[in-house]
Amino acid sequence: MTTTTLDSLLAHDSSDMLGAAATLPTQLPDGLARAARAREAIQTSWIGDMGATPRTLVVCGMGGSGVGADLLPAAADVRAPVIAVKGYDLPEWVTDEDRVVCVSYSGATAETLACFQQAVDRSVVAAVITTGGELAERATAADVAIVELPSGMQPRAAVGVIFGALLGVADALGVVHDAARTIDEAVAGVSLVVDEHTGSGPEHGGDQPPALEFARQLHDRVIVVSGAAHTEAVAHRWKAQVNENSKVPCFASAYPELCHNELVGWEFARATGATWALVELLPFEASDAIRARFDITRRLVADAIDVDLRFEPRATTRAGATFEQLAWGDYVSIYLALLRGIDPTPVNRIHELKGELAGR
Ligand code: PA5
Repeated sequence: MTTTTLDSLLAHDSSDMLGAAATLPTQLPDGLARAARAREAIQTSWIGDMGATPRTLVVCGMGGSGVGADLLPAAADVRAPVIAVKGYDLPEWVTDEDRVVCVSYSGATAETLACFQQAVDRSVVAAVITTGGELAERATAADVAIVELPSGMQPRAAVGVIFGALLGVADALGVVHDAARTIDEAVAGVSLVVDEHTGSGPEHGGDQPPALEFARQLHDRVIVVSGAAHTEAVAHRWKAQVNENSKVPCFASAYPELCHNELVGWEFARATGATWALVELLPFEASDAIRARFDITRRLVADAIDVDLRFEPRATTRAGATFEQLAWGDYVSIYLALLRGIDPTPVNRIHELKGELAGR
């Protein structure tokens, strides 16, 4: 590809989503540092027996703000279950044995505000993670710790700082081991991909960014992303990024469960009239059983799909592999938008819906 052609593609990235992706390695430690500033207040919220951790860490958040809840147990060694709540209601079973974190980039998300209120009523909130908005106002009024996010980003582009902040809250509550190490590993993994897409020399992708080449193969196909173990969360992140950045449908699933249902669905995939692409996210240290399922499934569905891209992690840790595979999805989804000639950043439909709901 000539530089001119790459430049004409990049011209669609008016709000610089590629630039935002390149900040992932610095976002991760920044998030941890932001949580450290609220550490004392977070710990004050939890008066367990000496050394005891909460029974569960419940993380309420939607969309780009909710993804940290999935990534936390995927990437970090957690000592208590991390439960993602993506809706209006805190589960009935949440009591003072548990701790709740509410994450909303804007601080204005209806579902997260509803959960926050229920958590305040039960006196179980450990912290909120937000740029401000009503969530910060309510947290201040209720004397709840606030981990402040940097403003001016798209929530989904703030995934690094949100993850780092959530990890820091979990660390303050004793729910994770060695948060600093997890961040270092995640930075090493994400940098493997970011470094190939920044700078101008051939070692940085030059005018042939690898994610652009993958996006060319996936363009105008319905993408199904399959993960396993820690890459299940990443498959869902890929799906959301393809939805929001590339503005096309995308589906996510996970091994071994997909071998018990989705596998059959491929038999008549071509009858739908769509052309299909499979993205396989191999987990770090995949067991022989899981690798065999990826291999056998790939062979069984070969007739139904036009493109099959397999991503093997190069990172040498689980946290690293999680963020390496995540960065591939971020970059590929951005290039998919640019190939379509659209700006990856705006998510007008989400704002239309929120506006209509607010007007009711
Ligand atoms: O990417 C987006 O803009 C959405 O997925 C938002 O993150 C989601 O609507 C929730 O909003 P907020 O992150 O402000 O709580």
